[in-house]
Amino acid sequence: MKLQTGKKELVGTLIVPGDKSISHRSIMFGALANGETRIRHFLRADDCLSTIQAFRDLGVQIEETPDEIIVQGVGFDGLKQANKPLDVGNSGTTIRIMMGILASAPFATTLIGDASIQKRPMNRVMLPLQEMGAQISGNNGSEFAPIQIKPTKSLHGITYHMPVASAQVKSAIIFAALQAEGETVIYEKEKTRDHTEEMITAFGGHIDVDGLAIRVSGNQALMGQSITVPGDISSAAFFIVAGLIAKKSEIVLKNVGLNPTRTGIIDVVSAMGGDISVEENGLAGEITVRASQLKGTTISGELIPRLIDELPIIALLATQAEGETIIRDAEELKVKETNRIDAVATELTKMGADITPTADGLIIRGKTKLHGANVTSYGDHRIGMMLQIAALLVEDGEVDLQKAEAVSISYPQFFEDLEGLFI
Ligand code: S3P
Repeated sequence: MKLQTGKKELVGTLIVPGDKSISHRSIMFGALANGETRIRHFLRADDCLSTIQAFRDLGVQIEETPDEIIVQGVGFDGLKQANKPLDVGNSGTTIRIMMGILASAPFATTLIGDASIQKRPMNRVMLPLQEMGAQISGNNGSEFAPIQIKPTKSLHGITYHMPVASAQVKSAIIFAALQAEGETVIYEKEKTRDHTEEMITAFGGHIDVDGLAIRVSGNQALMGQSITVPGDISSAAFFIVAGLIAKKSEIVLKNVGLNPTRTGIIDVVSAMGGDISVEENGLAGEITVRASQLKGTTISGELIPRLIDELPIIALLATQAEGETIIRDAEELKVKETNRIDAVATELTKMGADITPTADGLIIRGKTKLHGANVTSYGDHRIGMMLQIAALLVEDGEVDLQKAEAVSISYPQFFEDLEGLFI
């Protein structure tokens, strides 16, 4: 696909689609609660549709109306055996959390997914679940999908020190713990997004969070709720960066979720000298960005999980900042939808950026002028969207993006929303 190039001015207001993490979880909690759950501003993108389909295959009634998704909860004991493997598509969140949800089911399940899913590490979820008593295994003795879950009589609580900072892993263990005998105590390596913890409380369950320690007791019951999903800051991130680097821009992003475990990009933009203002309104808020002179920064440590999905677009931002930006402690980027360290370095280098990949991040030297190139998303939605924002800066030449359709994994109307800001 030929990308839009040479846009110096982006002006307007945008409501970004619903948060992907919260949309997945709203279906999961809705299905496992008793009674009805109604979800507004649900993200209708491939990943979340995979979660809907998985629960439909497990016998849950889910109705889609233009305004709402309506889930008829069946309770933790009400899921039925699927008559085929559950296909999670490209969704790491679906496969990993479903492993925790189904670990104690009285029936067998097979989880399958696309080529990217089959390369993503699953031991991080399987090992703690096996410790809880689950019978769960990867393909031919490996840790990789397809994943087989065998029926188990019951799970028991464990104390678990997480070796990786991962909300997907944490959430899988929490969902298993809600159905286990006794208490489970999880110690996070770093604080990661806490939507699962927040939503347990919202659905009438109990969870105790004290810093990095999380305590969950088993045999809980949840109650259906009405939810409005806030806009996804990870989708807003592409427009935050676009507004900062296109020469004469001003973009207002409304109703963006501002959970503090997700707002690392705002801290980084401020540290780089970007003109960003945030008007909080409860859990969501309005973000305004304007074209800015930027300087390099260092991004590391506990900040990383707070912006893990934004690192590709932050790397692009750094190509337009004076001086060096160093991203470290981000080795998790290698096991995302694609190896995002390599993908960002390779594709932006093709366009003229000065980037060095490292074992746990990237070193980016700015400011560089970008030029036309043939690039690929590698089938990774966030790499595809980042490359379109990069292309806006190209004044000479064309940018041709392979596998552009990957954007529909989290943001099907991304290209249309961007075009709405052209003047
Ligand atoms: C997610 C957690 C993150 C993130 C992913 C969504 C979630 O993955 O990258 O896009 O919804 O829990 P990890 O928790 O594995 O880092």
